[in-house]
Amino acid sequence: MNHIVAPSLLAADFTRLYKDLEMFQKSNAQWLHLDVMDGVFVPNISFGPNIIKQIRPLSDKFFDVHLMSIQPENYIDMLVDAGANLISFHAEASNHIHRHIYQIKEKSIQAGIALNPHTSIQTISDVLEDVDLVLLMSVNPGFGGQKFIYNTIPKIRALDKIRTERNLDFKIEIDGGVGLQNAEKILEAGADVLVAGSSVFKSENPSQSIQQLLGIQRNNFIA
Ligand code: DX5
Ligand code: ZN
Repeated sequence: MNHIVAPSLLAADFTRLYKDLEMFQKSNAQWLHLDVMDGVFVPNISFGPNIIKQIRPLSDKFFDVHLMSIQPENYIDMLVDAGANLISFHAEASNHIHRHIYQIKEKSIQAGIALNPHTSIQTISDVLEDVDLVLLMSVNPGFGGQKFIYNTIPKIRALDKIRTERNLDFKIEIDGGVGLQNAEKILEAGADVLVAGSSVFKSENPSQSIQQLLGIQRNNFIA
């Protein structure tokens, strides 16, 4: 399967949001990554269900919502109603991960679980059968434009290995500091979805940057 590129709206220019969304819609990027922050789980506030609902008619593509909030259960229904196709919530923010995965899936959309850089993949070992996606943060969540944490690479490899061993089919999404400089390594390690904020929206030619990220080949064939 070809990898997915998910531009992160957090890095868009909100004074010309319509234009940036038009660029996204016309591009070959498959998913739009939407960062919802509560100012408690992460030290920043972004946008919520109301904004997502307003922009939903501007694109027919997959809306990938990354919920960075305590008490994720309070926002799931509103985000589904806003038009999310997938909601990832943080393992660190939930005492009932399994329950919240099924709260999402009962609404007939996909469920993802997100992990901060310090959180071990063992934490979610017992719910890997239940999720559609695992989001590995490769920066500390809260802000765009940060430096990629290279320890994420072995973490991707380890998760990909578990996926193969247990014959599971969740996607692995990498979020934070992703760009042309590291995308090949990330894909080689086993990732399927590249979130790209600054490397798309802050670049001179965003649709070309998307195209370049889509064009990267995995070179992990054993000769
Ligand atoms: C950070 C967000 C990311 C962010 C990525 O908390 O989860 O999705 O938008 O931005 P870049 O690609 O600039 O690191
Ligand atoms: Zn994100």
